[in-house]
Amino acid sequence: MSQDQTTQPATQCVRPQPLPESTTRPLVPPLEWSVVFEFNDLDHVDAVYAGQMTGYVYARDGHPNATRLANQIARMELAEAGLVTASGMGAEAALFLGMLQQGDHVALAQGLYGRTQVLIAKELSRFGVSFTLFDSNQVESLKSCLTDQTKMVFVETITNPLARVPNLARIAEVCQSKAISFGVDNTFAPLISRPLQSGADFVTHSGTKMICGHSDATMGSLLGRKADIERIRPIASSFGLSANPFECALTLRGMATLPLRMKSASENALHVSEFLEMQSRVIKVHYPGLKSHEDHNLAMNQFQGGFGTIATIDLGSRQSANDFIRRLNGRVPFAPSLGDVATILSHPVSTSHRGLSEPERQALGITPGLVRLSFGIEDPADLIKDFSYALKE
Ligand SMILES: Cc1ncc(COP(=O)(O)O)c(C=O)c1O
Repeated sequence: MSQDQTTQPATQCVRPQPLPESTTRPLVPPLEWSVVFEFNDLDHVDAVYAGQMTGYVYARDGHPNATRLANQIARMELAEAGLVTASGMGAEAALFLGMLQQGDHVALAQGLYGRTQVLIAKELSRFGVSFTLFDSNQVESLKSCLTDQTKMVFVETITNPLARVPNLARIAEVCQSKAISFGVDNTFAPLISRPLQSGADFVTHSGTKMICGHSDATMGSLLGRKADIERIRPIASSFGLSANPFECALTLRGMATLPLRMKSASENALHVSEFLEMQSRVIKVHYPGLKSHEDHNLAMNQFQGGFGTIATIDLGSRQSANDFIRRLNGRVPFAPSLGDVATILSHPVSTSHRGLSEPERQALGITPGLVRLSFGIEDPADLIKDFSYALKE
């Protein structure tokens, strides 16, 4: 009689049976949601902790679904290594907490995603990290804010909501000449931009957006050199920033169609922006694919395969923006995020840039008439029909 047959039901229920041997493998990477991993004996545990044998120990420090996703995003960004986190903010927090210390100074691009600025200005400042905002479209503005204490420069590939495009190679040159780390939030431009190739040291993503692509997982990633990522990894674990297996699996599944979604949504963004530019009620369309955009020529050189999925229109006033949103009546939903398969819209003054003061918003050109469109993969004819109706005199 095997030992198992002699155990009581309560014991049998908690001891999973080993699977019968299989000579085939699952086509889809399995969801492995175990919090902890099992060792053979004490020698095994010593060998894993010493790095002589590979193996996961505890999910906050690492698990197979995180490794799979991090490797996939690292490959896309041409990075040596990657780390996935519980959100895009988690990736930025991991970067700043890992690379900065008391007394350091950070140069932050004006108009970054609101929470990014809050993270440095309100949170890390409590721990003695100072910052200066600079205009990421003026390299001179960057040079003039650097100090001997500057340890990091941080920008977005496409700014929010005016879709300006900083010259990454020129910023990288300045950073390299002064041995300052250069981080780029590439959330708006996966695949069309590879900031590490332009000389950045780190890339972050809100994987919640285009990479997952379905608004059903909250996820972040940090990419860079192997030595840097390995240094940051335990810090991210200590601060509890790790991503969970389920969200990693969902994001990996979403990522399979990222190239198709990026292509289709970028084409929609361009096509519909050209239409919107002709509408009398639209004062301006901010989209780097338009010839009228300040950074169109730079975007043509810096991006490959499209100009991104985000366009912002200026309707002149809060009232006009509100009328536009109401007339769309949920066909293009007002949902303050981006990167979904469906086109969604956001009102930066009320949502992403709500935390800034009115003078700060004015200085950035973020006015109440702006509506940000995150393009999805619908048929563009239907989008044009909906927007035509919403803009009718
Ligand atoms: C450009 C950008 N970076 C970072 C973030 C933060 O990402 P998450 O919401 O996944 O924390 C966002 C969120 O909207 C964003 O738009």
